Amino acid sequence: MPAPNPLTTTQLVGYLSEKYGSQINADHVREAASHFGIGYATTTKRLRKFYVQRGTWSLEQVKDQLERQITSPSVIPEIQQNLKPQKDPNFVPFGNFSDVKKIISSKLFYPTFITGLSGNGKTLSVEQACAQLNRELIRVNITIETDEDDLIGGFRLVNGQTAWHNGPVVEALERGAVLLLDEVDLASNKILCLQSILEGKGVFLKKIGKYVDRKPGFNVIATANTKGKGSEDGRFIGTNVLNEAFLERFALTFEQEYPSVKTEQKILEKVSSNLGVLDEEFCANLANWSDIIRRTFKDGGIDEVISTRRLVHIIRAFAIWQDRLKAIKLCVNRFDDETKQSFLDLYDKIDVNVGEVPSDD
Ligand SMILES: Nc1ncnc2c1ncn2[C@@H]1O[C@H](COP(=O)(O)OP(=O)(O)OP(=O)(O)O)[C@@H](O)[C@H]1O
Ligand SMILES: [Mg+2]
Repeated sequence: MPAPNPLTTTQLVGYLSEKYGSQINADHVREAASHFGIGYATTTKRLRKFYVQRGTWSLEQVKDQLERQITSPSVIPEIQQNLKPQKDPNFVPFGNFSDVKKIISSKLFYPTFITGLSGNGKTLSVEQACAQLNRELIRVNITIETDEDDLIGGFRLVNGQTAWHNGPVVEALERGAVLLLDEVDLASNKILCLQSILEGKGVFLKKIGKYVDRKPGFNVIATANTKGKGSEDGRFIGTNVLNEAFLERFALTFEQEYPSVKTEQKILEKVSSNLGVLDEEFCANLANWSDIIRRTFKDGGIDEVISTRRLVHIIRAFAIWQDRLKAIKLCVNRFDDETKQSFLDLYDKIDVNVGEVPSDD
């Protein structure tokens, strides 16, 4: 049985046009056929739509098509979905939320940096501010690999052809949306391609010779666990020291703290009530427990904290097992043995109903 031949017309045309230009004759086809190990007749069949006359094929129309696509980015459908985030029924505003919302509602271009420990609602607050203001949000999760192509855009292969594709930054600029550079301190220096944008200017797409202006309402908000100066205690591995000139372009910095005991209790009550397992006492205990842990952490007495995110994980585990201690145990298993045990012992002191916490040793 002959081996299946995976060669596509696009590959064949790409090869021919690269090697011989747009005017193709029979010798070219013969050479391409032998290059790909397929028969002459099969090759000409693949080239049927480029046939001009006996022994002549013209790839000119391919070039035309390509050029048309390059100047018309719409070949790749632009973001069609609704970019306005949904309101989260569990959301409880606190801390910097009203100020973040004020900046967004002002529609002023005012690059804003939000820094704070993990899982205290930085990303959620930006998302919910946009939800409440009915504004479009484009969130980009930054990693060390993020580059100009990911942010600004580049050429993509669509149905075997190359077409320009707007990156999220260009999309946000053109739509007047809020651009969220999430976890920006994981970036490499490639993020510096955003310098002009952070100055409130548009961007020149050099690859397609087009200038994209900034629509009113466009703004950049960055979140990070550090202030872009690296992480001294090693808790945030992968964070990088960001270029000073990049950081300087952010007008202001919010330092996001964990919610107060009362707010956190409210969050947990909302989450558990929406899961149909409201247990007010458990929520109050958890909020007090995490508050003590965080204060001990601040004083250097412990190396880990319980984030709001982790408390929500615990409530969700509680919704599954309806067992307070099991929910907590499963969710603190991720910490080293000593930390885990001290967290459990502390909870045991707060909640008289859970019984003695068995020790691991
Ligand atoms: N204000 C809030 N109201 C309700 N839930 C909250 C609030 N803040 C945080 N949470 C809960 O904590 C989770 C984590 O929040 P978020 O993802 O915004 O944290 P983050 O600060 O961006 O963390 P990271 O630095 O790890 O990205 C949310 O998914 C939500 O469950
Ligand atoms: Mg986040």
